[in-house]
Amino acid sequence: MLLCCWPAFAQGTMMMPAPTKSNYWSVSGRFVGAKQCALCHAAESRNFHHNSMSRALEPMETCAILRGNVHYAWKDARYSYLITRVGDKVLYRVTDGKETQEVPLRYAFGQGKAGQTYLFEVDGEFYESRVSYYEKLKGLDLTVGAANRQPTDLRTAAGRRIDRDETRDCFGCHTTGARTGAAFQLSNFQAGIQCESCHGPGGAHVDSIRNGRPAPDSIRSLKGMDPEETSEMCGVCHRTWEVVMMAGLSGINTVRFPPYRLSISKCYSLQDRRIACTACHNPHEGLDGDDTHYDVKCTACHNPANTSIAKRTCPTGKPGCTSCHMPRVEPPESHHAFPDHWIRVVKSKDENPG
Ligand code: HEC
Ligand code: HEC
Ligand code: HEC
Ligand code: HEC
Ligand code: HEC
Ligand code: HEC
Ligand code: HEC
Repeated sequence: MLLCCWPAFAQGTMMMPAPTKSNYWSVSGRFVGAKQCALCHAAESRNFHHNSMSRALEPMETCAILRGNVHYAWKDARYSYLITRVGDKVLYRVTDGKETQEVPLRYAFGQGKAGQTYLFEVDGEFYESRVSYYEKLKGLDLTVGAANRQPTDLRTAAGRRIDRDETRDCFGCHTTGARTGAAFQLSNFQAGIQCESCHGPGGAHVDSIRNGRPAPDSIRSLKGMDPEETSEMCGVCHRTWEVVMMAGLSGINTVRFPPYRLSISKCYSLQDRRIACTACHNPHEGLDGDDTHYDVKCTACHNPANTSIAKRTCPTGKPGCTSCHMPRVEPPESHHAFPDHWIRVVKSKDENPG
């Protein structure tokens, strides 16, 4: 037992079971904050703020989209909406022409690519704003899903009440430390996905190093995960094949869920790390928007010298593989075209896996 475990230990690979949906939130220990990690891990910290994950939630005081003299308005047949800033506060006003409701917004979810949605509180209950900001529109439109619900009064026109479990889940996927296991608190958490969201609380790790006795299993090492383990981990938030199946989702809306779409590609392998999320994405860096950036990732497998798998190469011989084989598809209401991680010879952008 000891012999078989030693090499993995010595190389510093997986000490603890890889994080999955069943154990991702079940962490214990003290969170220390990303500033602490940056003191010793400069390489991983330097560009992390370029990744929108680090800003998946912003409190209103620092919300970049609602900075300065904002004045965003929207209306439908019955209700008019207005979002304005007054000092540190952002006010959300909804009126039907007779009555008006005005509440301060509390939290901004997302960076607006596929929407920025706001949470506000009335009588101790959380609500999701009926309208969201979209980068493409540089303004407001209905929040995804809101088109299916007709408001019955001013309150439901302002937003959808979300119960405690759903609120916990929103904060779980968009912050660090607000959710641990089934527990949920908002008195002490880090906004956005920070280091300790993926690596787990770092208190014991930092203490052990400061005491001069680094404990190897004091923090989740995530290197060495195979594609399936990686998809399971990223899929805690980005949704795995299993989650999509269990929820009965299908069609164009699933293009939002890269772990699911990737898993149905012929390129996908459970073991070959050249197709893991982290082969193409460094979670510590911003997303690279240049198609040709990904060519080497594809040709790592698709090259004539490859004698085992993926011997086929492209008859077009053109660079920018992903521009043709991972086309951008826009689900209804999202105002954003997501790159399709179902890598394939595309016959129609509208085709969907069965
Ligand atoms: C005081 C310096 C220091 C701080 C602060 C610190 N680390 Fe580390 N970290 C280290 C050192 C040194 C190692 C290498 C230790 C070893 O090889 O056992 C390490 C190793 C790691 C590893 C790899 C673990 C492994 O088993 O290979 C991860 C992941 C990590 N740190 C993440 C973090 C995160 C996240 C934070 C913030 C919560 C953090 N560290 C804060 C010094 C620090
Ligand atoms: C705790 C939840 C969570 C986990 C775990 C997670 N993500 Fe994310 N990720 C998000 C959220 C939320 C966003 C959307 C951020 C935004 O725009 O508000 C996001 C956005 C991204 C983006 C777009 C970044 C950009 O700048 O546009 C990439 C790429 C990404 N994630 C990759 C990954 C990979 C790879 C993993 C696994 C190593 C992973 N994510 C794990 C929650 C998570
Ligand atoms: C299971 C994890 C999970 C839960 C729960 C969750 N989100 Fe997200 N959210 C994500 C991920 C991952 C993304 C990035 C991919 C995408 O846009 O679908 C995202 C994207 C978003 C975006 C678009 C961000 C952008 O920059 O384009 C908004 C807005 C958003 N979420 C709001 C919410 C709100 C509000 C709730 C609760 C009602 C919520 N989310 C619950 C994981 C989650
Ligand atoms: C979205 C999830 C995610 C976030 C957030 C994240 N990391 Fe990582 N980190 C990973 C993954 C996955 C790997 C393994 C990458 C690989 O396969 O090489 C990793 C690797 C590392 C390593 C290399 C050692 C090891 O054994 O894992 C260090 C050190 C590290 N991260 C520190 C940080 C710090 C510091 C931050 C915050 C600035 C951070 N990480 C934020 C997912 C994340
Ligand atoms: C073979 C390469 C490759 C692999 C593997 C891969 N991606 Fe991507 N991913 C891309 C490309 C290309 C883009 C689009 C980049 C751009 O143009 O902005 C992208 C974009 C994204 C985005 C941003 C979506 C948006 O709307 O902007 C997220 C989130 C993401 N990937 C998550 C993942 C996750 C999670 C995995 C693992 C299940 C994964 N990716 C695996 C190539 C890859
Ligand atoms: C881990 C290795 C690996 C990586 C990385 C990889 N592929 Fe593949 N790909 C395969 C295998 C294996 C097949 C199926 C057998 C074959 O085509 O040789 C395949 C099949 C394909 C096909 C044919 C699919 C069909 O519908 O018939 C296309 C197109 C393709 N890959 C493009 C890409 C592109 C573009 C990238 C980068 C974004 C990429 N692949 C990355 C292994 C890989
Ligand atoms: C301009 C669009 C375009 C670009 C860029 C492109 N491809 Fe293709 N690719 C195609 C089309 C179209 C086909 C189908 C050709 C056919 O069946 O006659 C194809 C076919 C393939 C196949 C399957 C070949 C077979 O024998 O069935 C693979 C693998 C592939 N491409 C990989 C790549 C890789 C890797 C890159 C980047 C180095 C790339 N492609 C760049 C359009 C493109």
